[in-house]
Amino acid sequence: GKAQIGVYGLGTMGSALALNMAEHGFDVAVTNREADWIAPFMTEAGDLAACLQSFEDLQGFIAALATPRIILFMIPSGAPMDEMLERITPLLEPGDIVIDGGNADFHDTRRRVGKLSVLRLYYVGLGVSGGEAGARHGPSMMMGGSAEAWARIAPILTAIAARHEGSPCVAHLGPDGAGHFVKTVHNGIEYADMQVIAELYSLMRNGLALPPAEIGALFEAWNAGPLRSYLVEITAKLLSYADPETGHPMIDVIKDAAGQKGTGRWSVIEAQRMGQSASMIEAAVGARSWSSEKDTRQAAEAVLGGAVGAVDASPEVLAEAFLAARILAHAQGFRVLAAASEEYDWSLDFATIARVWRAGCIIRSALLDEIAVACEGDLPEGQLILDPGLAQTLARCVPALRQVVCSAVHGGHPVPALSAGLAWYDSMRLGHGSANMIQAQRDMFGHHGFERLGQAGRHHGPWWD
Ligand code: 6PG
Repeated sequence: GKAQIGVYGLGTMGSALALNMAEHGFDVAVTNREADWIAPFMTEAGDLAACLQSFEDLQGFIAALATPRIILFMIPSGAPMDEMLERITPLLEPGDIVIDGGNADFHDTRRRVGKLSVLRLYYVGLGVSGGEAGARHGPSMMMGGSAEAWARIAPILTAIAARHEGSPCVAHLGPDGAGHFVKTVHNGIEYADMQVIAELYSLMRNGLALPPAEIGALFEAWNAGPLRSYLVEITAKLLSYADPETGHPMIDVIKDAAGQKGTGRWSVIEAQRMGQSASMIEAAVGARSWSSEKDTRQAAEAVLGGAVGAVDASPEVLAEAFLAARILAHAQGFRVLAAASEEYDWSLDFATIARVWRAGCIIRSALLDEIAVACEGDLPEGQLILDPGLAQTLARCVPALRQVVCSAVHGGHPVPALSAGLAWYDSMRLGHGSANMIQAQRDMFGHHGFERLGQAGRHHGPWWD
């Protein structure tokens, strides 16, 4: 019979998703640009191959699909997707659904939705999180597109999604680019959380002189409490490994230069464009950029000195600082979502987003369970930091964050994300800030004018009289 869905792209994520679908009893057609990937994939599929039909040519692949067709593309984002659309649209018919499951820039998704709608084709931007294991056994998925397309693909996506206490971690979040935008912000929060973990690790390693295995044990303990999360879990695990070549802790032989493919940077750029600043994500993106200048840092160490001092913070204090920082990173991410929802008229539902993030994705955590509940009520000012429960946790944990940042700064340890989170918190909790000075300067040098407290309208200082 005809296949219910086609998967184009048998890289890590495409293969895993195709196998996941087959395991749930769907008939799946598969193909790949490099034909020589197909046979090994079918071998790997084992018994599941019964639900899989493989094709070396695009025409055969398309012909094998039940109409109207559903095709999921798992290929590199950007130009390859546009080239793919050029090739495939002439072979499709009105009503067919094209799903882009990559980490696409949501602006591209919006453009493609428009382009394909002219051909009466549906274009779906699907954020897929969870890495290979997630894709294979249950990813978290963020769908953007039309309600008609959602109605047709929902049965498949719901079946293969991760489950949180029985409810599937997939949802139709909004039209056109909404799904890819939410995935981008998910990745932004992922960047911030990873950077916070890296900073805390470094403080324990270089400021408390703890060996990797002991730090791993601490992360493992943290994973049993309010800090429980997938990233904490894998951090604990990876710290227990030794390098088979040298016998050193594995973490010590890995070059300290981080890669990045763009989603973190996009979160920051979009936030800034909308008059927001997700400063912890910015710090995380920046820290990755600085890290890649390894040669410069090594030269600088010889000139500027690389000594760092002891850190005055117990692991308990570090844990509280971590929780505060994690709340702040999510609060910044949700602010960016709110701004985009308004700008693009997406009516994003934060409770649904938080629920989709509770299982399957990289940032899944105990905190997200709490955030999902918080978002069900009315968030004061739309701000997570003002949710009564989260505000209370912040009040309890921010003193620890303060202690950690002070001590780190004093000892010369870089803590860009932790300190950015604290600066944002301190800026937001002051009803009266320092921007009166900015306004006075702007008026004095440029006659820009300012509002007076409690008095609308544009005023100028006596310096102009
Ligand atoms: C996920 C991850 C995944 C991938 C990103 C990370 O949610 O499963 O975010 O999409 O790891 O590509 O991006 P970087 O390579 O930029 O760290």
